[in-house]
Amino acid sequence: MSERDKSAPPIRIAMLGAGTVGSSIARLLTRHQHDLAHRVGANLELISVGVKDINKPREGIPQSLLTQDLESVALSRADIVIEVMGGIEPARTLILAAMNAGSSVITANKALMAEDGAALYSAAEESGVDLYFEAAVAGAIPLIRPLRESLAGDRVTKVMGIVNGTTNFMLTKMDEEGAEYDEVFAEADSLGYLEADPSLDVDGIDAAAKAAILAELAFHTRVTLADVYCEGIGSVTKADITAARDMGFVIKLLAIAELISTDDLEDGIVVRVHPAMIPLNHPLANVRGSFNAVFVHAEAAGEMMFYGRGAGGDPTASAVLGDVVAAARHRVLGGRGPGESTYSGLKVLDIGRAETRYYVNLDVRDRPGVLAQIANAFAANGVSIQVVRQDGHGYEAGLIVRTHRGSEAALRATVVQLESMDEVRKVVGVMRVEGEE
Ligand SMILES: NC(=O)c1ccc[n+]([C@@H]2O[C@H](COP(=O)([O-])OP(=O)(O)OC[C@H]3O[C@@H](n4cnc5c(N)ncnc54)[C@H](OP(=O)(O)O)[C@@H]3O)[C@@H](O)[C@H]2O)c1
Repeated sequence: MSERDKSAPPIRIAMLGAGTVGSSIARLLTRHQHDLAHRVGANLELISVGVKDINKPREGIPQSLLTQDLESVALSRADIVIEVMGGIEPARTLILAAMNAGSSVITANKALMAEDGAALYSAAEESGVDLYFEAAVAGAIPLIRPLRESLAGDRVTKVMGIVNGTTNFMLTKMDEEGAEYDEVFAEADSLGYLEADPSLDVDGIDAAAKAAILAELAFHTRVTLADVYCEGIGSVTKADITAARDMGFVIKLLAIAELISTDDLEDGIVVRVHPAMIPLNHPLANVRGSFNAVFVHAEAAGEMMFYGRGAGGDPTASAVLGDVVAAARHRVLGGRGPGESTYSGLKVLDIGRAETRYYVNLDVRDRPGVLAQIANAFAANGVSIQVVRQDGHGYEAGLIVRTHRGSEAALRATVVQLESMDEVRKVVGVMRVEGEE
């Protein structure tokens, strides 16, 4: 540090929560204090840490810093308050109080950002402080800053990724080991990978919160969790995974936000989370286990992929500390990070407007003319067939149809028609296919 930096007053940091992420932050703040001081131009000093149970042993955090009085932490007038407690309340009230008291806030709380990011942004604006949340999406992977800053000169058209490591771990196990859903659920549970409320993972809610945050940044449009179409992985069977493999695909839980622009209908965005088949040669197909990856398409930049560890104490702490350095520099040098950008105000469209391909697995009566009848049902709804594969002869036959791109509404109408046909004994499975042009 220069002589001037040495005399700079320390940047005081208070922290709400000291669990998996918070304890890593505290440890890394100490371990890297020398480097961080140089990067910021002032020493960083942890002044208080709010927790639920003050008596839990916490390595690396002096007992004297711990308190159960979270309000006192929020109102400490620290330069930076880090919120890593999670949940909506009391986190929201505490963050608003901290900003109101003049502290910049760094949060890893995707649930809160997706539900009420607008309130947090406006409090930051009113108080002239920073609001950073890199760790809220995809853990260690720098993704928020690239969307908020690096790509601010471009026009993003699509964001598609694997943003929930637990469901990716489960689907990878089902794919590679032929395991059933119930078995991999039990394994994820025994390894402690599932959230306290497992539906946040398996029903896609965690991924949907992250999709809302990414969509808002990518399209400069306010998007909340309620705007995201969401299907989880509970209905994915071993048979679906085997069928996908046979066709050269793998099933992933994808979060997708895309710009929809057609000649005849209003432009807007669709934000969705659901299991989908992607070709084995697609970069996202090789994202295994608990890793995350996000594919971004921007008009000028083209395609980019961001890949890395999406969770865990140290990886998430890395993202938080990057934000700490940015906010601390502003305290030392002046200036503020970007605020909310929702000027585009695009309409968030119904899932029916999404453009996708379908895989449809049909159990049909094996009699002459069936194929033609089924092809007619697709054609009648304006959906064109890409590939048909027939299995078996005799009374029962399996038919697998993959379509070209069509609107989700047209594809759904096709499935409804198929279900009503005498030639179709059962629509066995339907899945969206992504990642093919
Ligand atoms: N874990 C990850 O890999 C990861 C990745 C990305 C983002 N995040 C986000 O980071 C945040 C923290 O996650 P985490 O895994 O570190 O959670 P955690 O291990 O459950 O830790 C939560 C911490 O907050 C404290 N806390 C929670 N509610 C409280 C309350 N009402 N009053 C006082 N203290 C309270 C707990 O105190 P006690 O210790 O006394 O119980 C604990 O120290 C969440 O928003 C999560 O979504 C986590």
